[in-house]
Amino acid sequence: MSIQTIATQPFLDQKPGTSGLRKLVSVFQKPHYLENFIQSIFDSIGDIQGQTLILGGDGRYYNRPAIQIILKMAAANGIGRIKVGQGGILSTPATSCVIRKYNAFGGIVLSASHNPGGINGDFGVKYNIGNGGPAPEKVTEAIFERTKVIDRYQILDASNIDLDRIGITQLGNMTVEVIDSVIDYANLMESLFDFDRIRQLLTGGQFRMCMDAMHAVTGSYAHAIFEQRLGAPAGTVINGIPLEDFGNGHPDPNLVYAHELVARLFGDNAPDFGAASDGDGDRNMILGNHFFVTPSDSLAVLAANATLVPGYRNGLAGIARSMPTSAAADRVAEKLGIDCYETPTGWKFFGNLLDADKATLCGEESFGTGSNHIREKDGLWAVLFWLNILAVKQQSIASLMQEHWQTYGRNYYSRHDYEGVENDRANRLIAGIYEAMPTLKGKRFGQYEVAYGDDFSYTDPIDGSVSQKQGIRIGFTDGSRIVFRLSGTGTQGATLRVYLERYEANPPQNPVDAQIALADLIAIADELAQIRSLTGMDKPTVIT
Ligand code: G1P
Ligand code: ZN
Repeated sequence: MSIQTIATQPFLDQKPGTSGLRKLVSVFQKPHYLENFIQSIFDSIGDIQGQTLILGGDGRYYNRPAIQIILKMAAANGIGRIKVGQGGILSTPATSCVIRKYNAFGGIVLSASHNPGGINGDFGVKYNIGNGGPAPEKVTEAIFERTKVIDRYQILDASNIDLDRIGITQLGNMTVEVIDSVIDYANLMESLFDFDRIRQLLTGGQFRMCMDAMHAVTGSYAHAIFEQRLGAPAGTVINGIPLEDFGNGHPDPNLVYAHELVARLFGDNAPDFGAASDGDGDRNMILGNHFFVTPSDSLAVLAANATLVPGYRNGLAGIARSMPTSAAADRVAEKLGIDCYETPTGWKFFGNLLDADKATLCGEESFGTGSNHIREKDGLWAVLFWLNILAVKQQSIASLMQEHWQTYGRNYYSRHDYEGVENDRANRLIAGIYEAMPTLKGKRFGQYEVAYGDDFSYTDPIDGSVSQKQGIRIGFTDGSRIVFRLSGTGTQGATLRVYLERYEANPPQNPVDAQIALADLIAIADELAQIRSLTGMDKPTVIT
């Protein structure tokens, strides 16, 4: 087994986005493409000699070949030990859990999250640091700088490792340990939640749940946790076998893409509780019988009821939410007398707050919820949190939400996505809002008056780092808000995200549909940004 040094040339498009580097599989398959990026990681993260790394992915197409390449490169670069999930599988939250449990130097997750997979789909690489969380911007920037000048990479000339057999093998001077993908994570969940109580709920014959794993990585975890450890009836988990192309679906747990689950929860004889998770298992959607819980409300409910759950019995240090997420959690924080932080989009911004114990729960409107138990958002954790609350409160989701809104008021909220917009058109649209911004203050749109328009910038309270241009906010005098952002995770064209929010202190007993409550703001967003004419689309491609 000899170390080979291979000459290469930079690719100029290896800038990590909101969550790692994401490209079409065919791009990653270009000669040296994956290798360049991996070598750039190894060259940028500090002294890795003899260190332990964690490696796994969401099982999408190209996961296995990529793992073999990375193992050989790690061995050639002097890594001491790699723990790799069996079959190359580790969900994003499980990777974070394993990095922390074994005090690893960091980890590599192969995933393009909720983006479609398969030979014509997307692939991705994320690097996580020793706290288990996504690399902060200073690390991803160093990696990007390295990709621009890289001229060689190192790889061991060796045969492939058997990824399916749990156990230890040597690869040059490096030890490869194939570990069970699920056990460490499932044990962590059992330490946080009241499994006995949840088991009673799931086996009592009254309560029915459906968990849609969307043919993605959480299938393995959900079977083990819900059907084995918690005794839920077989069939509780649907689409539970992870497939390389996610069954040709779009593994994003929202009302559009999780249509099978939505049909069940909004159909006849609907179960009491439905949930779905995404490609790599860090997102979640929560549904009740004929009821959709927005992710922003979900964060608020978890915060308001946290002390019912063993792992959070002593209360919360604080809450953090991404800027476009609604202020529902802020209302709960206010009542609890704790801080609520507003961060830019992307989980990496929560890491410092969690490490410094300033926040215990975090959430994003994009179906991401999590806590200080790891440093990633965590889909199944959110599902278990909800089940634990429901098991204690013995209430339907609809009545629990109604009670919550009566206590805290309701933040009507929706996100409208326009996907696949030509880059030029999207840039023109954003430029148009910038141009209008100086004249917006005081301008009236029907009953709404603009209070401010700005570009969100964030100074990290722990390390003082500044992140600019994190989304345009237009706020109104009644507290309503419209936010415009371009996605940083797409791989084709641009995706415009429009976030709409309005607060009502005393909402009616019969819940009003958010699209109706937000109709005026939706029209104002179009007027302000000329969305329909500039995108050429007459409605959003996805509404959540
Ligand atoms: C999207 C979400 C963001 C999330 C990220 C990774 O990023 O909006 O909240 O952290 O995916 O899951 P975007 O495409 O908007 O940049
Ligand atoms: Zn994800």
